[in-house]
Amino acid sequence: MTKILHVVGARPNFPKLAPVHRAAAAAGLAQVVVHTGQHYDDAMSASFFRDLEVPTPDINLGVGSQSHAVQTARIMERIEPVLLAERPDWVLVYGDVNSTAAAALVAVKLGLLVAHVEAGLRSHDRRMPEEINRLVTDRIADLLLTPSRDADEALRREGVRDEQIAFVGNVMIDSLFHALQHVPADAGARDAVVVTLHRPSNVDEPRRLASIVEALREIAEARPVVFPVHPRTRQRLEDAGLPLGAVRLLEPIPYREMLAHVSRAHAVVTDSGGLQEETTALGVPCFTVRENTERPVTITEGTNRLAPDPAELPRLVASAARPAAPRRPEGWDGHAGARVVEALLAFVDRRPADDAVVVEV
Ligand code: UD1
Repeated sequence: MTKILHVVGARPNFPKLAPVHRAAAAAGLAQVVVHTGQHYDDAMSASFFRDLEVPTPDINLGVGSQSHAVQTARIMERIEPVLLAERPDWVLVYGDVNSTAAAALVAVKLGLLVAHVEAGLRSHDRRMPEEINRLVTDRIADLLLTPSRDADEALRREGVRDEQIAFVGNVMIDSLFHALQHVPADAGARDAVVVTLHRPSNVDEPRRLASIVEALREIAEARPVVFPVHPRTRQRLEDAGLPLGAVRLLEPIPYREMLAHVSRAHAVVTDSGGLQEETTALGVPCFTVRENTERPVTITEGTNRLAPDPAELPRLVASAARPAAPRRPEGWDGHAGARVVEALLAFVDRRPADDAVVVEV
């Protein structure tokens, strides 16, 4: 029986894991879920497993919050014995967090097959730690499972062979559709502006953070602003002591509750990757407070728009309007998890055998 080992660690990984786990269970595959412990608060981790109906991870490596180097190194050290003991047929890694790159690096060196779910996304901005994680993971993984056609193109441009690329669509949207069935009808403020921010480029630079908060304060004079705050952002806001006006800060909120807020929102202001996708699928206007996005399809086909200058946000948000119906990119249809499992089972391993002798002439 095919055995797959999933590695997840941070909040955005969990909605990607859920549909693949469900599809693999339906196909009768053996599964092990390893949580690195990169995120550990109930609100950042366990609540997501409950909302997504994914079983509690089999193994938790407990790495916690550290510098990038220490976090990555700890994941590598602690996952190696697990992979040696489990010897799965496939190691699945998700998204672009430190857990993704660390686990992929260890697994390929042990000769295990690695598949990357959400491969091929590129912001072309190497100042983002996530971009480095994407580049490293896609370079070494055996099977690259892509969420959008632009990702296929990006991989081909980097010289990846066609046999290694499988377009499967967006697993996040599987989770979105699944969760929407459970979102309480009365949850979430109607016509609010939902805000999330956590990128170092926005929150670690005090002047930048101050100009974003100023824009949010102005928006909050016209309509409710709901801001569930990531732990790193809360720390920075407290350090800066900025006045927040009518902006309503919340603790990080569970997945379904978040979707309730987002699906009823007037608009979303964010620097998250997942929210750019969820708003596109829901047809909710999204303003991404960044200079670039690794998810261009959310702009060309969806409701996303880059808003790198915070001073522009009040005007943009005021004029935001929903499209008559959401336009969903190809493969954002709720069946991506099943296609991941099909791609794993169909993959033909073309790596040279361990004992192959390569003669250079
Ligand atoms: C990580 C990912 C980022 C993803 C984000 C989603 C990397 C490089 N970054 O960033 O891509 O979008 O998760 O949330 O992997 N903290 C807690 N409790 C937790 C987790 C974190 O309090 O459960 C605090 C700690 O003070 C920590 C800080 O948040 O230092 C940052 O956590 P970390 O996992 O290092 O990076 P994120 O900013 O969350």
